[in-house]
Amino acid sequence: MAEARIRRMLPADAPAVAALADRLIGLDYYPTAQVEADLARSTVDGVALCYVAEGADGLVAFRLTFPPGRWSSGRGCGLTPARWPAPIEQAGYFQSCFVDPALSGQGIGRRLGQRALDDLRRCGARLAVAHSWKESPHNSSMRYLQRLGFTPVAEHPHYWAEVDYLCSGCRVRPCICTAIEMIRPVEPA
Ligand SMILES: CC(C)(COP(=O)(O)OP(=O)(O)OC[C@H]1O[C@@H](n2cnc3c(N)ncnc32)[C@H](O)[C@@H]1OP(=O)(O)O)[C@@H](O)C(=O)NCCC(=O)NCCS
Repeated sequence: MAEARIRRMLPADAPAVAALADRLIGLDYYPTAQVEADLARSTVDGVALCYVAEGADGLVAFRLTFPPGRWSSGRGCGLTPARWPAPIEQAGYFQSCFVDPALSGQGIGRRLGQRALDDLRRCGARLAVAHSWKESPHNSSMRYLQRLGFTPVAEHPHYWAEVDYLCSGCRVRPCICTAIEMIRPVEPA
């Protein structure tokens, strides 16, 4: 199969990203309006810090990232800035990354993450923050973030419980999955 092509996310991608998110994350986690709002929040000087990967039949993955100053928490409940080496004002946030399970384990998530880290470096971030999904299939979330240099700082049970969606992992509403908060220093450009 041809390698998926990675490019920046455009506003016109929002409905397709929402449809992919319904399938991969769970119904209602990312309605189109939420994708549009997050895309706008991630955009600096007309450039969005968000990416999609395209296969022959459409989108197969996406990654949303917020630059410093554009976020104060993730979608769920639990953040421990007191354990970070830099203040939240200097931190970018890895909001979400999902890859079609048929293509996972081929490095697409890692490539998307590297692009996001390069973007955060260009924005002057000194730290990247993420919430890893502890129950992710094959422990892929933790593994790809560790490969990108992230280390755990805290664990948040029932992290997504206040998001009204049907989780594709636990299949329970509200979600009972756990997030591992992870950080990674971002070296100056
Ligand atoms: C996490 C995710 C985005 C990583 O993207 P990816 O393209 O699969 O990333 P990689 O190819 O770098 O693989 C990540 C790790 O998971 C493993 N993995 C992923 N899919 C796998 C599979 N189907 N079978 C076995 N291992 C798999 C890889 O071997 C790799 O581990 P390693 O570095 O120890 O070898 C993607 O796997 C995914 O969407 N997972 C489910 C959703 C999720 O957890 N998203 C993050 C939420 S915060």
